[in-house]
Amino acid sequence: MATILALETSCDETAAAVVRDRQILSNVVASQTLIHAKYGGIVPEVASRQHVADLGDIVAEALQSAAVGWSEIDGVATTCAPGLVGALLVGLTTAKTLALLHHKPLVGVHHLEGHIYASYLSQPDLQPPYLCLLVSGGHTSLIQVKGCGDYAILGQTRDDAAGEAFDKVARLLGLGYPGGPIIDRLAAEGNPRAFPLPEGNISLPNGGYHPYDSSFSGLKTAVLRLVQKLKQQGVNSLPTADLAASFQETVARSLTKRAIACALDHNLSTIAIGGGVAANSGLRKHLLAAAAHHNLQVLFPPLNLCTDNAAMIGCAAADHLNCGHHSPLTLGAQSRMAITRVMELYLPKAGYPN
Ligand code: KG4
Ligand code: ZN
Repeated sequence: MATILALETSCDETAAAVVRDRQILSNVVASQTLIHAKYGGIVPEVASRQHVADLGDIVAEALQSAAVGWSEIDGVATTCAPGLVGALLVGLTTAKTLALLHHKPLVGVHHLEGHIYASYLSQPDLQPPYLCLLVSGGHTSLIQVKGCGDYAILGQTRDDAAGEAFDKVARLLGLGYPGGPIIDRLAAEGNPRAFPLPEGNISLPNGGYHPYDSSFSGLKTAVLRLVQKLKQQGVNSLPTADLAASFQETVARSLTKRAIACALDHNLSTIAIGGGVAANSGLRKHLLAAAAHHNLQVLFPPLNLCTDNAAMIGCAAADHLNCGHHSPLTLGAQSRMAITRVMELYLPKAGYPN
């Protein structure tokens, strides 16, 4: 059993949480969305400065609402990769300082591993092996979860991440930022079959297509061309609801097809979803229907655990600490890092899987 104070500052959410293994004792998130919305996207330097301004109060609030004193904390965790380096450094420096001051082990956590662990918070009985469909603003991957720190990437996007595609399409439709939730809301009022769009298959030399990898950049360009064509035809107001619904339907169908094929081919009976796009109602509808058809289990964490939060980081850190893994105080922040390399974040000890 491990009780963790966890921080998350990899992007535009300043978050702290106290987690005991798979149980949330507190979970505080201050979103910077409104601050970045006026720029149409995240401004890294602004994000870092806001983390510095907010993190102290957020940590105090997380400890206070968990009603946990430092004597009960077994470790201090923070996201250290991947993410915006300046933003990561705010959480990492704070976590190192707290760990040093209170004589606690430091546990660096890979952000995507955190998204995977969100499923354990809502489904504490979940056990590997299973398939995780990780769909966030920066990543779209199909990951086989074999155990703590033990992952295999079975499929991924060749270009834009699914969340990035939602954000870019929302911007070209003039809908604002962040695009995912806006498109999701608007799609409910539109016809998903109004405009046929390309699913983004990756062609293989044998004439088929890659069963698990995806591409969303062509889909985004197809929406752009469609908008240009409609404008050339003199359309006064764009049919944004139909465009949003058609785009969302295409992304949901593409992700569902790949996740189901991957789970079936690898004999994995459970698909856990992680990342901000897991909140998407179209994806939920398609995946649940397809999974029921193939007798697979699909787990969607609640929305507040799908988007960035520190509870998922704490849950991953608790598992690592229980396995005897902790990080050196010299740990650095990394903007990019494959999830297959997570064990590099921990001090070497006998028996590590390599
Ligand atoms: O996991 P996350 O909070 O941050 C990253 O680690 O990237 O994901 C943020 C992404 C954004 O691109 C946002 O547009 C998308 O998740 N998103 C959604 C929805 N809610 C958030 N995409 C589609 N539908 C939603 N309802
Ligand atoms: Zn994330």
